[in-house]
Amino acid sequence: MKIVILTSSPNKDGLTSACGAEAKIGAELGSADVIQIDLNELNISSCHSCGNGWGQCRDIHTCCIEDDFQKLHEVMREADGYIIITPVYWHDMSESLKVFIDRLRRCEASKGDMNDLSGKPFICVAAPGGSGNGGISCLASFERFIDHVKGVKYDFIYISRRNRDYKLSAVREASRSIAESLKL
Ligand SMILES: Cc1cc2nc3c(=O)[nH]c(=O)nc-3n(C[C@H](O)[C@H](O)[C@H](O)COP(=O)(O)O)c2cc1C
Repeated sequence: MKIVILTSSPNKDGLTSACGAEAKIGAELGSADVIQIDLNELNISSCHSCGNGWGQCRDIHTCCIEDDFQKLHEVMREADGYIIITPVYWHDMSESLKVFIDRLRRCEASKGDMNDLSGKPFICVAAPGGSGNGGISCLASFERFIDHVKGVKYDFIYISRRNRDYKLSAVREASRSIAESLKL
């Protein structure tokens, strides 16, 4: 079974990256085939809100902007579960994740109940800075996205410098658990 891990920070040795490493260990302990993708290494631009607000995303469920979105959309469609990890920027997910989520949501939510993400489990991780401000708002953005694509909320994790040690363990355990749940 395939689990996609998405991370979206420019820092290669920061908190997001540490969570990504733990998620990979955990998912592999649960016997998943892991596909790990750093969104900051891809070229995915923002939605153009074509036409009067909807473009071909509504009718043929693809995006007309040709960039790295298409191949990642395909990877997401074929996966069985998702672990998405972001630094908190402006009380929300980072921009590299936000632009991807915006376009993915349009293409999938417009398919309705039987879209390619529906019924699949998500773990969402928000990594704010020292203030911790916006961690919950960021997780609320994730929740809206999962609601729109009718995914399954497996876990929402808030990790900061203060709780880093035990929350890294939580990321690993949640990732192992989601993988094991998909074996059943
Ligand atoms: C543009 C920008 C906006 C940020 N906004 C917030 C914020 O709203 N709340 C917060 O707690 N930290 C904020 N931070 C700090 C990052 O969330 C924090 O440093 C995070 O741990 C970075 O993760 P990383 O080490 O994986 O890059 C912001 C950082 C940047 C660069």
